[in-house]
Amino acid sequence: MYSKEQQAEMFEQSKRFLKTQPSPKDYPRLVEILNFHEWKYYVDNSPLLSDKEYDNLYEKLLQLEENKDVIILTHSPSQRVSSDLSNQFQTVQHYNPMLSLANSYNIDDLKDFDTQIKKLCLGTDRPIQYFVEPKLDGGSIAVVYENDIFVRAATRGNGAEGDDISANAKTISSLPLRAAFSEYGIYRAELRGEAVMSKTNFDKKNKERQYEGLDLFANPRNAATGGLRMKDPMETRDRGLDVFIFQLAYAVDKEGNELLSGFESHDKAMAILSQLGFKLPYDKNPLTHDIHAAHAACEEWETNRDNYQYEIDGAVVKLNDFSLQQRCGYTQHHPRWAMAFKFKAKQATTSLLNVEYQIGKTGAITPVAKVEPVQLAGVTVSSISLHNEDFIKQKDIRLGDKVLIERAGDVIPYVVKSLADLRTGAEGYIEFPCTCPSCNTPLLKSEEQAAWRCMNPKCPEQNLQKMIYHVSKEAMNIDGFGKSLVERFSEESWLNDISDIYNLDYDKIAALEKMGEKSASNLKESIEKAKGNSLARLLSSLSIHHLGKKASKLIAAEIKSVFELQDWTEENFIEIKDIGPVVAQNVMQYFSQKEHIDMLRRMEQYGVNVKQTDADRPVEVADDAPLKGKTILFTGSLQTMSRKEAQALAELYGAKNISAVSSNLNMLVVGDKAGSKLKKAEALGTVEILTEQAFLNLIES
Ligand code: IVH
Repeated sequence: MYSKEQQAEMFEQSKRFLKTQPSPKDYPRLVEILNFHEWKYYVDNSPLLSDKEYDNLYEKLLQLEENKDVIILTHSPSQRVSSDLSNQFQTVQHYNPMLSLANSYNIDDLKDFDTQIKKLCLGTDRPIQYFVEPKLDGGSIAVVYENDIFVRAATRGNGAEGDDISANAKTISSLPLRAAFSEYGIYRAELRGEAVMSKTNFDKKNKERQYEGLDLFANPRNAATGGLRMKDPMETRDRGLDVFIFQLAYAVDKEGNELLSGFESHDKAMAILSQLGFKLPYDKNPLTHDIHAAHAACEEWETNRDNYQYEIDGAVVKLNDFSLQQRCGYTQHHPRWAMAFKFKAKQATTSLLNVEYQIGKTGAITPVAKVEPVQLAGVTVSSISLHNEDFIKQKDIRLGDKVLIERAGDVIPYVVKSLADLRTGAEGYIEFPCTCPSCNTPLLKSEEQAAWRCMNPKCPEQNLQKMIYHVSKEAMNIDGFGKSLVERFSEESWLNDISDIYNLDYDKIAALEKMGEKSASNLKESIEKAKGNSLARLLSSLSIHHLGKKASKLIAAEIKSVFELQDWTEENFIEIKDIGPVVAQNVMQYFSQKEHIDMLRRMEQYGVNVKQTDADRPVEVADDAPLKGKTILFTGSLQTMSRKEAQALAELYGAKNISAVSSNLNMLVVGDKAGSKLKKAEALGTVEILTEQAFLNLIES
């Protein structure tokens, strides 16, 4: 793709551009350089710049693009999210039909395939070699380049025509916006590939969605196919998809002459595509010399499928030589020169025996399906979360149903659907409980939330979960105290709520089996230490719904003692930047309950810190701080510090950073080659304009 020398040059020039503001004449080169860094990061997996450096460089590009002398290039990385592109999902014709693949399951099927190929290729002296690659489980995509520029992407649709999803596809960073096809004489090319979501990203996105009360993705495939079809390209981008290319399907020169056969073989075509910056789903040479070797390669992919970052549901065996492919031809449905080798299912059917209800630390009730134990991709599954009542309703899951379940990668098993056709009539509806299974309190649910909750502050099961969280590393970080000890002490009735943790009888603990003096005194030491934790830590350890670490920190900075929160109204919360009504409501609800206040009082009595500590206090801005109450904006490239450092410094001295020049702006600090922002500020006439040095002098004063 890029020679060592080119890479070194790109790198050096990046550093120069980082130091000084590039001018409009540097613009095309800067686009090229940023595209190079995107390739290093998203395709080559070996970034040369830190994220911060990349961001700075990108910021410089945006600044240049504001300049009226600069004509924005369509392959500029800024155009991945340009606002003038929208998704109409118009139908477009594929240059070649997008077919499916025939399936095989074992060596015999593959041998039949090989026999058929040999028949079709009878009389040729060209070698029969098989290319074996992973079969990615995502959404098919056809991407068109013209004149070296990305022009279109489409879904498979009915095979002949698909939906135009160009605006969405453009946001996917592993898909180059420009590729030098012209070096190979190609004017227009259509590539085929698969848009996928990595397993890690899938887990991450689902955690976020669960937290936000959104429907979970069933598997990475749904997340990817859905992602391609978002109305808003920003949402596609948010999913963090990748595109892998697996076929050069069409290539013509300016006159429309077909060029594909000139590339000789699949492996050569793929090597060129890799060279042009596309992401391929393998890194070693997948060429094999006979069907047995091809089968061995398929099995190797199957053995290693869990170590692969992306979901694969099989391998694809392709006859390598293009002229032989042409001889074999196509059926209506699939090419005769390729065959999918399907892996053992990660899906299974089983019977739903019963539903149990778990109570979480914030009181949320989660239904859990108990199923007939079944083998699923190497593990026995007997319990599967059904998430919430809506999930059960939407999927119409009933007791006694046969259900289709799936385990994607390392991901927890998931009920895909119930098999309504197999019902006998003996199935029963799942009655979601109205009261808490632990304490019998009526359950509550607010409109915007998916979960039913038990709001009883004395709920034994909920308090158990709260205590387990409270002692964990995440929360109060009580060394040596974990789930099993919390459960053991609870069984002894020593623990009813969090406050009891700080009032334990260590003699009794020492007398417990397998404990002893030493363990008891170690535990005591850890608990004593935890008593001194910051107020922010205490707040976030209480398991208040939606109150995370960050919000706890922000709130702790505003109060002298935890008990002040009893009197806080929604306005108090909302005044804090980054705290919204949801956190406010939940914290207010918590502090309106007498049981919680009593519990916190007991904790205070046992010596737990409930007051603001030094760690909680924000850095004080003195009244005479030089920038107190001022709004500030940095533009152009700074010489002695990064933009981020400058902003942090400004904040430290009392200023508020804002992002645009308007009548609200008090100060503009201009670095080298400041552009439109400076002009605008000058035009306004109300903005104090400072050089970087003047800014530094000011804060030193
Ligand atoms: S080759 C004419 N190679 O599987 C060639 N397909 O079941 C047809 N797929 O729609 C496709 N990984 O979206 C090919 N390495 C791979 C693939 C692959 C995934 C998908 C593709 C296709 C479907 C066919």
